[in-house]
Amino acid sequence: MTSIHTDNSVNSDQPVLETHLSLPNRRQGKVRDLYTVPSQSGGEPRILMIASDRLSAFDVVLPTPIPGKGRILTDLSMRWFHFLRELNIIGDHVISTDPDDIPGLSEDEKNQIRGRMMLSRKVKIVPIECVVRGYVAGSGWKEYKQDQTICGIKLPAGLTQCAQLSEPIFTPATKEESGHDENISFERACELEGKEIMTRLRDISLQLYQAAAKHAQSCGLILADTKFEFGYVIDDSGNPTDELLLADEFCTPDSSRYWPADRYEAGRDQESFDKQYIRNYLQELVDAGKWDKTDPGPALPDNVVTNTLARYVEARTRLFG
Ligand SMILES: Nc1ncnc2c1ncn2[C@@H]1O[C@H](COP(=O)(O)OP(=O)(O)O)[C@@H](O)[C@H]1O
Ligand SMILES: [Mg+2]
Repeated sequence: MTSIHTDNSVNSDQPVLETHLSLPNRRQGKVRDLYTVPSQSGGEPRILMIASDRLSAFDVVLPTPIPGKGRILTDLSMRWFHFLRELNIIGDHVISTDPDDIPGLSEDEKNQIRGRMMLSRKVKIVPIECVVRGYVAGSGWKEYKQDQTICGIKLPAGLTQCAQLSEPIFTPATKEESGHDENISFERACELEGKEIMTRLRDISLQLYQAAAKHAQSCGLILADTKFEFGYVIDDSGNPTDELLLADEFCTPDSSRYWPADRYEAGRDQESFDKQYIRNYLQELVDAGKWDKTDPGPALPDNVVTNTLARYVEARTRLFG
């Protein structure tokens, strides 16, 4: 389509709320745009994931972009993937972050997605969010207050908000196509996906969390909890194999809780370098009767956009310089 506007000559510094690339099968997650990348000579299927500047909170995508957030998320995930590759716990899905590796894109399209893209091996995602928690926060704290468990795991009495657990626990959740993910017990996850695979994913998740939390700690950050997604590699004829990969993003402020270690104190909410800042801002709107956590979300004022981005940047800088 020709356009009289100059929107096509996308400057790489412009916020990206969504993309419209000349590639097939575009679909949108809350934050990422996904495309199918035609395989060159009958090879494995590949997908292109673009991290936009969309921000989602309480499962609602907000109308205001956080300019540059998608690049920070991609950079952080890639640095973590490189860190993990040394540890040989599990392979990850990323093939390339170079727009020149995607056939058929214009220079403008390449500029738009540079720094935001991952060309990945396509996997069949295991529809369980593999959450690991080292501390009692968020939905874990809510559940603990009610019945002293998290995802059915009985915990000692007397834990306070944000208290550290004696050891990290695996607390799966369903991955819902729409609506909120739901915390489930490990046993329920085994019923849904199979005991063998869930046992493997639990063990891998705990190893990944421990490695990442140790690195974060050395950077003065507590990785309170995080979420992983795994999937089965899809072969040339489009069928899932039994090769498991770590997919999606890794230990970004969107998928994790990061707290500054020097300010940490159990028994209260923590300052954080993750989405908690924006959740708190939105919760104030909810408490004031100005929003009800349904679509559409409220537009964000400039200072909230700036403060949100600053937290993402701070997390990246602290973790990887
Ligand atoms: N290698 C991969 N192959 C196929 N799907 C993937 C891969 N990596 C991540 N995904 C999926 O791509 C989507 C990423 O977009 P995102 O905006 O994060 O979605 P969501 O709203 O589900 O969080 C997720 O649904 C995730 O499960
Ligand atoms: Mg996601």
